[in-house]
Amino acid sequence: MPGSEQNEHHLEVLIDEERLQARLQELGAQIREEYGNVPITAIGVLKGSFLFMADLVRAIGGPVRCEFLGVSSYQGGTRSTGVVRITHDLRQPVEGQHCLLVEDIVDTGLTMDYLLRMLQVRNPASLKVATLLDKPSNREVEVQTDYVGFTIPDEFVVGFGLDLNELYRNLPHISVYTP
Ligand code: PRP
Repeated sequence: MPGSEQNEHHLEVLIDEERLQARLQELGAQIREEYGNVPITAIGVLKGSFLFMADLVRAIGGPVRCEFLGVSSYQGGTRSTGVVRITHDLRQPVEGQHCLLVEDIVDTGLTMDYLLRMLQVRNPASLKVATLLDKPSNREVEVQTDYVGFTIPDEFVVGFGLDLNELYRNLPHISVYTP
């Protein structure tokens, strides 16, 4: 292979594709059941949520609007800086809508805390959180997590949207990275 990007990374599967997809279907069905036939505004938090968002909105089914928020808080490293930067705002007002924030992971909780405050002042009819992964051991601020795919231990995970210096978001499963 040409170029200088030939790094050997040690990755070990934590949640395989089959388990992940089964849980996604379960979550989607649970969410639709709880909302009934009411339209849901799913708000995917980029970049990490792009695969979870795509699968979750299909698993929810029925009337769903898809919006995206661009956020950057981990600036290339493996620890949160606590600095949340909005790189892309919603295209539509969400006033009066039933909003579901869709995240790949809640770690320190700083990003989610910031986003919930930011969205709450836009007066949605309701505001809930769906996260594929929850890492409660690292929490710095208490945040609401209404729908959780998997609660994981304090490991650095990649795959299914989560990256290591922008690599591995494409993995169809979740793996643990050990340096
Ligand atoms: C990740 C993840 C969450 C946030 C969670 O985003 O997607 O948004 O960190 O961490 P926290 O609970 O400690 O705040 P990141 O900034 O890495 O951007 P990305 O989604 O583009 O990878």
